[in-house]
Amino acid sequence: MKILVIGSSGQVASALARQAGAHEVIRMGRPQIDLVHPAGIADIMGQISPDVIINAAAHTAVDRAEDEIEAARALNETGPAALARSAEARGVPFIHISTDYVFNGLGGAPYAETADTAPLNVYGQTKADGEKAVLAVNPDALIVRTSWVYAPEGTNFVRTMLRLAAGGETMNVVDDQIGRPTEAHALADALLDLAEQMRGGADGGLLHVTNTGEASWKDLAEASISGAGLSTRVTGIPTSAFPTRARRPGDTRLDLSRAQAVYGITLPDWRESLERCLEMMGVSGRRG
Ligand SMILES: NC(=O)c1ccc[n+]([C@@H]2O[C@H](COP(=O)([O-])OP(=O)(O)OC[C@H]3O[C@@H](n4cnc5c(N)ncnc54)[C@H](OP(=O)(O)O)[C@@H]3O)[C@@H](O)[C@H]2O)c1
Repeated sequence: MKILVIGSSGQVASALARQAGAHEVIRMGRPQIDLVHPAGIADIMGQISPDVIINAAAHTAVDRAEDEIEAARALNETGPAALARSAEARGVPFIHISTDYVFNGLGGAPYAETADTAPLNVYGQTKADGEKAVLAVNPDALIVRTSWVYAPEGTNFVRTMLRLAAGGETMNVVDDQIGRPTEAHALADALLDLAEQMRGGADGGLLHVTNTGEASWKDLAEASISGAGLSTRVTGIPTSAFPTRARRPGDTRLDLSRAQAVYGITLPDWRESLERCLEMMGVSGRRG
């Protein structure tokens, strides 16, 4: 199967290429496909003639998005809608990735796909608008919401924690936000499975796909640090003690039952995928 992935060096785009197996994964980002200037997308799709398209490109800098509203809107809403329209016109299954940050985190229980969205920040708002825009032009599209993505490369929480832990004896990490940390390669395996199912005629719509289990940022920091053999002590602090440009939701655990029931997809527990990530980074069990 030939899969066109939009985004080149991003965490999920890179993981899709690494996990491709027997599939041909063609990553394409700027300058060939620039979601801020989506003209020409249809031509590129025509040249590549993919069996499935996965959009792994986005404006993911949650704090920066507060000051880059136009860019966030182009990357997270209008660009994906242009991709979705071109895919629909060619009759090619389209998978778009969205986020737990479409929710305000006040629900008190894991969010089902049918729950109302209520984003707290520009990133979440533009992603929520992107979901609607994609489905408006391409009702057959599959929108995969995921959460707290990290990978062995790129800018992410796990790598930041390991860098900070290497330089200190103690660190403070927020412990009153909880969610489901998701390793990019585990997510990529699920996306490739979903791509095959979509090509086989599976239904689209909204779908939650994350690693299983739940964690606070402090839990994820501690597991990363101890998994890398470091002994830095992590102290939990409330969100109020760590002000950020963008507001963040408190509890964005996603309900994963539809992925299991409809597509037979269940990812490993987050601790198992974290261990695999640390191994890929070459730091698993390292003594600090
Ligand atoms: N990171 C998270 O914690 C998280 C959580 C929930 C959901 N998600 C969603 O998961 C998906 C993948 O996220 P990720 O973590 O892999 O993101 P990432 O590592 O930040 O990568 C973003 C990707 O977007 C591409 N991109 C940026 N500007 C572009 C433009 N103008 N035109 C075309 N492509 C452009 C980048 O291209 P280059 O390769 O050229 O730089 C890169 O491949 C996104 O939809 C994101 O919203 C992420």
